[in-house]
Amino acid sequence: MIGVFDSGLGGLSVLAAIARALPHADLIYYADTAHVPYGSKSDDFIRDRVLFIGRHLAEQGCKVIVVACNTATAAAVEALRQSLPDIPVVGIEPGIKPAAMASKTRYIAVLTTESTARSERLAKLIRLHARDVKVHVEPCPGWATRVETLHLDDSEFATEVADKLAPLLDTGADQLVLGCTHYSFLTPQLLRLTAGRADLVDVADAVARQVIRLSADCSKGQATLRLLASAQPEKLLAALARLDLQWLAERATASHPTENPVAIQ
Ligand code: DGL
Repeated sequence: MIGVFDSGLGGLSVLAAIARALPHADLIYYADTAHVPYGSKSDDFIRDRVLFIGRHLAEQGCKVIVVACNTATAAAVEALRQSLPDIPVVGIEPGIKPAAMASKTRYIAVLTTESTARSERLAKLIRLHARDVKVHVEPCPGWATRVETLHLDDSEFATEVADKLAPLLDTGADQLVLGCTHYSFLTPQLLRLTAGRADLVDVADAVARQVIRLSADCSKGQATLRLLASAQPEKLLAALARLDLQWLAERATASHPTENPVAIQ
């Protein structure tokens, strides 16, 4: 069994990549919807939540745990690895390396939460993989919360996103790194705005490949999916349909037809 978690809906983009790569694996997804967004919280708070959720997933029998959240990875992936030394823990980090390699203008931009933007882990990643590239880190407060509402086509928000991207594109950024898993669900809007001037860099598929490397045993299973949330768990199924992930919703209802997603504090 593979456990995947995020502050809310964002990690469903990673869950989908894992489910595509491992169609028979048994999966559990935990959305910490009582505490979303993580991006505006302190490192200590995020660490406590990550340790709590990680332990819970381990108790459910997960043989690998995926932190499908850049913010939680930056703040607490090492703490989680220390607390669960026998379980492989896969984190997610902004795709600085692929973006730096692909950039022709040698200028890339990273869209992240406030917490990830100020993290030492991101600074280190940039030092390591983008020495000869200009990197602009752009915090996007409120974007993850917007994705949680599922009102992605709101015109006020569209203007906010356009205003954020325009200076980056106008000054020549040709790679936009999606440094928060929630932003994957803004891909259609972002592609409309970039209009071919920049690529979007999303590492969900790379995370799925890493899960395969670390969890060969998990590839066999009954293709079950359990959905858990710390608040309003019933919303997860509906969200899957709204986010073009109906096939995952069907996998959840088929494998747990009588079980509603369970709330855990
Ligand atoms: N989806 C998360 C990330 O990748 C966190 C968003 C939030 O809760 O602020 O950073």
